[in-house]
Amino acid sequence: MASETLTVIDNRTGKKYEIPIHDSAINAMDLRQIKLSEGDFGMLSYDPGFVNTASCQSRITYIDGDKGILRYRGYPIEQLAEKSTYLETAYLILYGELPTKSQLEDWIWNVTHHTILHENMKKFIDGFHHDAHPMGIVVSAVGALSTFYPDAKDIFNAESRRKQTYRLIGKLPTLAGFAYRHSLGMPYAYPDNDLSYTGNFLNTLFKMTELKYQPHPVLEKALDVLFILHADHEQNCSTNAMRGVGSSHVDPYSSVAAAAAALSGPLHGGANEAVLKMLMEIGSKDKVPAFIRKVKGGEGRLMGFGHRVYKNYDPRAKIIKKTAEAVFEVKGRNPLLDIALELERIALEDDYFVTRKLYPNVDFYSGLIYQSIGLPTEMFSVLFAIARTSGWIAQWEEMLLDSDQKLSRPRQIYKGAEQRDFVPMEKRQ
Ligand code: CMC
Repeated sequence: MASETLTVIDNRTGKKYEIPIHDSAINAMDLRQIKLSEGDFGMLSYDPGFVNTASCQSRITYIDGDKGILRYRGYPIEQLAEKSTYLETAYLILYGELPTKSQLEDWIWNVTHHTILHENMKKFIDGFHHDAHPMGIVVSAVGALSTFYPDAKDIFNAESRRKQTYRLIGKLPTLAGFAYRHSLGMPYAYPDNDLSYTGNFLNTLFKMTELKYQPHPVLEKALDVLFILHADHEQNCSTNAMRGVGSSHVDPYSSVAAAAAALSGPLHGGANEAVLKMLMEIGSKDKVPAFIRKVKGGEGRLMGFGHRVYKNYDPRAKIIKKTAEAVFEVKGRNPLLDIALELERIALEDDYFVTRKLYPNVDFYSGLIYQSIGLPTEMFSVLFAIARTSGWIAQWEEMLLDSDQKLSRPRQIYKGAEQRDFVPMEKRQ
């Protein structure tokens, strides 16, 4: 028996149970012994949205929502955003330690040399309607990649996992660029291996007729910082989808497709797109108070505000605000910024938001930066997906190698009808 325990008395039966506590948690299966009678199934815990359920033990990302702390493998996000690069951070997230010089060179070389997509992928993307949402294209296309790499099914082979990691991280920006250019009816731009990860991504988006695309160093750096901030965020909705789908031992492309689909929703990665739409809908600074009144009256939410975990401030939002200033210096001040600042000012003073601990999250300002870089709102969640791919793969691999993990399959509390006999059509009301 563990030295720390929880004593539970079932007042229905008067029976007493001693349940071990490890890491401030009890094992949900220990509740099963609490029964009314021998034939009883046993007690369950009920937790919609998993707000107080740990689904795994993890060594990747640490968040303290009250203190506004985010760390990857122990390193504070502020230090990584200032001193690291996205690919170096991705290596850290995936392999647990910062790479040595040669490990980093090797890693960058491998990711960079897996950026090209099979030519048939172009035909696949061509099949989408001209106004297809790029996130829909990316979700489908990344799932389709599994058919190009059947070796990816060998998920318990470390070499195979490493190869799929290079491919996924390398090819996501290419896919995203193709999805974007498809919507414009422009020819696809192939990757340029001389450029950095984000420099090359800008190339696949914006290269026109010039022989060599030259990314603006400030925009390239801003995107890199944004990618670092979005690389992982422990057991969020899309990561839970990655782990849940991956727990069936399907290949990682299928799991990443599921994770990207989860990410695309407006309460998760789709929020930055929703923020921009909201700012455009508000239209001007003087209409902010009326909008806030509507939100408080239950008509919609203030997008880019609130977080399941951060209840004080989102440390990523602070870094993003600085990045936004650097981008605006190059591209000019985004006119929606004034509306955003006014919303933030009023909301941070308003009792409704203060008592509910609602603060700007990572998505409140990221959309303004993406828009200033020249990206349409539909591309915002795609950018999030590129950055989060490293986190998804790290979490997936951790799940696969964790002997505690099982096929993800929650229980339910059935509240439906008892058994009843089929009613013929003529007798139905
Ligand atoms: N605007 C207005 N009211 C809100 C908001 C908001 N953005 N967020 C929460 N509330 C209210 C909510 O109505 C509820 O009020 P009451 O207690 O009176 O019913 C209370 O605050 C608690 O809300 P909740 O839905 O129980 O909180 P949650 O932890 O389940 O929700 C959230 C977290 C992120 C889904 C939510 O804050 C939200 O919908 N925010 C807007 C969407 C958004 O910006 N999402 C991006 C999250 S950060 C990026 C990422 O990690 O994906």
